[in-house]
Amino acid sequence: MSYESSNVLQATYWTEIGGPHWVRQQPMFDHMLATFGDEALRALAVQPGETVLDVGCGTGTTSLALCAAVGPHGQVFGCDISATMVDAARLRGASHDCLSFIVADVQTDRLVPGDRLADAVYSRFGVMFFADPQAALANIASNVHDGGRLAFVCWRHEEFNEWIALPARIMSTFTPEPVKSPPDAPGPFAFGDPDRVRAVLSGGGWSDIRIEPFTALTTMGGGLGIDTALEQSMATRAGQLLRSQVDDATFAEATAAVRNALADHVVDEAVVFPGNAWIVTARRP
Ligand SMILES: C[S@@+](CC[C@H](N)C(=O)[O-])C[C@H]1O[C@@H](n2cnc3c(N)ncnc32)[C@H](O)[C@@H]1O
Repeated sequence: MSYESSNVLQATYWTEIGGPHWVRQQPMFDHMLATFGDEALRALAVQPGETVLDVGCGTGTTSLALCAAVGPHGQVFGCDISATMVDAARLRGASHDCLSFIVADVQTDRLVPGDRLADAVYSRFGVMFFADPQAALANIASNVHDGGRLAFVCWRHEEFNEWIALPARIMSTFTPEPVKSPPDAPGPFAFGDPDRVRAVLSGGGWSDIRIEPFTALTTMGGGLGIDTALEQSMATRAGQLLRSQVDDATFAEATAAVRNALADHVVDEAVVFPGNAWIVTARRP
């Protein structure tokens, strides 16, 4: 496997940069993503006693929700490529017998221990970072019973998500060498194109594929006000890129410009935008 087709870069990012930021700001991210994750949970319709896999489980918030849904006779396996995220998840899940977490690359590793198979697979924004999404979806399928269900939520394309597109556009005007990634490069918007999602799922061995749009308000910065929302914007990939390319004065100027733009979206002291996602469901034949 070449470096580009492996997930080494994502593993490094989520362990060293994205992961620590997420762990520090976990309540903020949960506040922002809860409505989207809950919609995918409803779509999965988890039953008591089931075994469920939480893909790209992060700090374990949705694994804990799945644990409540499967009850005392069920089991939830959370898997994530980032040891930083899994360490935090393990701390939070320590008192729940039905929960276990593993550090694993969803594209290549065994995800359910032993010869067990899951009844259902869930993910809240944890499926868009694979170098080879079809291989990842096939590997997930190999950990699931025949007839097993899958439900995940992923972002629609950037142009439907101004909460990230607007700050990125502003920052790019201060960047000497704007970097435009291909739309399907691993990252938050890699599953923005529903035809691609359908193709990788079907190529990965899934059937009965449904892809429904879902819109809800996203409250940036967890509703803690414009400074926290600004911090969230500047911690994105666009912000990191800007930081690496410009001097302190230009970075400060760009930060002030982003702050001004976010100020237009303040409602009751929170920075609010519409967020647009896909709720995707499928079944293993
Ligand atoms: C946007 S975060 C979402 C975290 C969590 N699902 C939540 O909603 O709080 C994406 C997660 O996917 C994980 N991830 C990225 N690539 C992965 C891979 N190849 N295998 C397993 N996890 C991966 C990251 O480490 C990160 O925790």
